[in-house]
This record gives sequence, C-alpha cells and structure tokens, in this order.
Amino acid sequence: MTSAPGESPVRMYHVSKSYMAGQYALHDVSLEIRRGEFVFLTGSSGAGKTTLLELIFAAERPSEGQIVVLGRNVARLGASAIPALRRRVGVVFQDFKLLDDRTVEENVRLALDVVGTPRREARTRVFQLLKSVGLQHRRFHPPRSLSGGEQQRVALARALVNEPEILLADEPTGNLDPDLTLEIMDLIASASTRGTTVIVATHDHSLIERYGKRVLRLDGGRVAEDVPATAGIERGTGA
Ligand SMILES: Nc1ncnc2c1ncn2[C@@H]1O[C@H](COP(=O)(O)OP(=O)(O)O)[C@@H](O)[C@H]1O
Ligand SMILES: [Mg+2]
Repeated sequence: MTSAPGESPVRMYHVSKSYMAGQYALHDVSLEIRRGEFVFLTGSSGAGKTTLLELIFAAERPSEGQIVVLGRNVARLGASAIPALRRRVGVVFQDFKLLDDRTVEENVRLALDVVGTPRREARTRVFQLLKSVGLQHRRFHPPRSLSGGEQQRVALARALVNEPEILLADEPTGNLDPDLTLEIMDLIASASTRGTTVIVATHDHSLIERYGKRVLRLDGGRVAEDVPATAGIERGTGA
C-alpha cells in the first residue's frame, strides 16, 4: 500500500483519456509530481484540467497509459481498493457537495468518523481546522446558511481533515473575492509545506505569478508547458 520512500506520489506515463472515439480530453500526458510539491495546473476551458484531477482521484480511468498514485496503479485498481486510496487524497472540486442535512462540523468530521477516529480527537481536530479557515463560529450551522465563499472554506477544511498525502483543488477560488482567494490559497500552500503534494487547477494568472510555483499548462489535452517553480517572492508558504 505505501509507496517506496522517495517515490513520487503522482506519476503518469503516456496517459490519454477519451470520452468519445477520436476525441481526447487528455492526450499522451507523461509527468511526475514529487512529494510536497505544489503545482498549478492551467490552460483554457476544455484543456483537460478537471479530467487530469479526476484520473488522479480514480474518479475516471485512463483510456491509455499508466497512472501511479501513491504507489497504486490507478488503471488496474479494483473497485474495492479505491476507497482506501481516496482516503489519502483530499479533494476540493467545483461542485463541492456539502451535505445539507448535517452541520458544518459534521460535514468536516465525516471523513474522520469513517476511519474510526475517537470522537474527542475528531472534534478537536475539526475545531482547529474550522478555526484555521475562520469558521469555528459557524460549526453548528447547516452549509446552506453560509455564503458561497464560506462553503468553499468548509470544503477545504473537509479535504484537509484527514491530513491527506495529496490535495487536489479544482478552481478552488473561482467564486471568491480577492482577499478570500489569498486566504484559501495560503491555507492550501501551507498544507504543501507540511509535506502534502498539492495540485491546484486555476486560470487565475495573477495567482500563478504571485506564488511562483511549478506550472503545468494544458492545451487540447496535452502538456503544452511545464515551468519549474521560481525562487521568486512567495507568500505565506515559507518555502
Ligand atoms: N464526462 C465527460 N464526457 C464527455 N466529454 C467530457 C467529459 N468530461 C470532460 N469532457 C471533455 O473533455 C475535454 C476536457 O474537459 P475538462 O477536463 O473538463 O477540461 P477543463 O477542466 O480544463 O475545462 C473537454 O472537451 C470536455 O468537453
Ligand atoms: Mg475544469
């Protein structure tokens, strides 16, 4: 189950994904993302960003090629092995799907309950996380009573609660104002300094410039550019 030390948590070899014959959402993508690395995934709408994240999360399978996530070959993973892999991967997808018949706290705690974390420990952890996203005072509210930005922060807290080895975020700041965008991005960046491998899909170029991280640009399902992190000014990451 565990990957060998030093082995990159995400490796793709000639991966293609086709939803319709002759049309590729991803086309011959090979890449490697190292442990603790923070990568921006960019490219215009339809470039294949969401598809790439879905493949890493084993929500889709590649049509061709191999994907190895945390040492597991996603193309060959049996259905029963998928939940165990997903417990090690936090996701903030665009339709973040919080459960409305549960409180904010319960939404974040769910992933801990699933793995049998003792209740006291779970509540403490959830409280700390909600505090870090500035929503501890909302913990007993239903998600629908929160603004879009607040719900997005709950979704991030939920994704981080299990201390995932990989964090995938699909346009996580799409609906947020500039201040909240930086708050969310700093939280995501600080997860990467704790060793979490982070991939953020965005087409916000000011964000990409601000953080100076590695940028993978997709174009028509292919990797058009892979720009390494710059040693420029980074905000809130300490890296
Ligand atoms: N479930 C699907 N069924 C059919 N086509 C899809 C599906 N998901 C994505 N696509 C197509 O794959 C391409 C890449 O889409 P996507 O990965 O969503 O790109 P991005 O996130 O960069 O906008 C697009 O042409 C899109 O229409
Ligand atoms: Mg998308």
